[in-house]
Amino acid sequence: MSKLNLNQEIKKIENTLKQLIQSEDSTLQSAADHLLSSGGKRVRPLFVILSSHVGENPANDATYRVATALELIHMATLVHDDVIDYSDKRRGRLTIEKKWDQPTAILTGNFLLARALEHLSYIQDSRIHQTLSSAIIEVCRGELFQFQDQFRAEQSITNYLRRINRKTALLMQLATEVGAMSSQADTETIRKMRDIGHHIGMSFQIVDDVLDFTSTEKKLGKPVGSDLRNGHMTLPVLLAMKHHVELKEKVATLTPNSPTEDFDWCIEQIRQSKSISQSLEVSQKYLDKASALLETLPKNEIKPHFRKLIKRLQNRMN
Ligand code: IPE
Ligand code: IPE
Ligand code: MG
Ligand code: MG
Repeated sequence: MSKLNLNQEIKKIENTLKQLIQSEDSTLQSAADHLLSSGGKRVRPLFVILSSHVGENPANDATYRVATALELIHMATLVHDDVIDYSDKRRGRLTIEKKWDQPTAILTGNFLLARALEHLSYIQDSRIHQTLSSAIIEVCRGELFQFQDQFRAEQSITNYLRRINRKTALLMQLATEVGAMSSQADTETIRKMRDIGHHIGMSFQIVDDVLDFTSTEKKLGKPVGSDLRNGHMTLPVLLAMKHHVELKEKVATLTPNSPTEDFDWCIEQIRQSKSISQSLEVSQKYLDKASALLETLPKNEIKPHFRKLIKRLQNRMN
């Protein structure tokens, strides 16, 4: 088996992505360029490529198609998510809506999604198409539920977990599952890879939700403290409200038009509460599950890479 070189893999992905976003329309082209050239961690394509090494036929044409398509789908969801969240910054730069306008952002998202589908259409295996399309439907439902759940103080942690499963974990799960599938891995291994992706994805979104309270815009390249302002009841909010009656009462009164001081007060209460470390514990539990599953895989060169990725996620928490 070829030695895995992740830097080389990323370079390959970047080149294909650049080709894929070519458009005859100069606005679409510059908007997609703007987004692509501002970076991003490329976690999902890496997961696809790594996961394909569990099967007999690693890193083949279908693997690379899925890898780049998933990054395009991810980018499309980010562009649309930023419209929904009124975000100013993404990957350290102005969002498409702020640099151009809202219709351009919506169309750019659609364009990226369509390009992803076009690129995938060359794959013969119908299992891959079915798995991908049903997951994308669920991602849309996740964003819709998030929209419907905005400013609903009365919601369960199960509700939150279900929502982040759809909006984030599913795409990661898809990366590891379809990556393995593309390499003709056996059913049992595909299922394990899928679960590893799921657990990492859950942990990833919980950390993202914590960082929204604890990090800085400079570090993240996107605004912080804006989830609650947008009415998103993330894990730190839900956990903090459990033991803080005043906070719960205040959160229940929040609307998009509430005074900034009300949001500031709630955010400060959450930052100072134990809910931050409790959320990180929940995130760690998911990572532990992923690590345990990883160790049940037969000896394989991807294991150290996944271990490293899991470590990096842990470090993001600190
Ligand atoms: C951001 O995803 C959206 C979430 C699921 C939290 P990433 O953190 O992977 O974003 P990029 O691609 O690196 O910018
Ligand atoms: C992730 O949600 C977006 C999608 C999965 C579509 P967030 O709203 O938490 O992502 P950021 O924080 O804007 O990157
Ligand atoms: Mg957002
Ligand atoms: Mg976020």
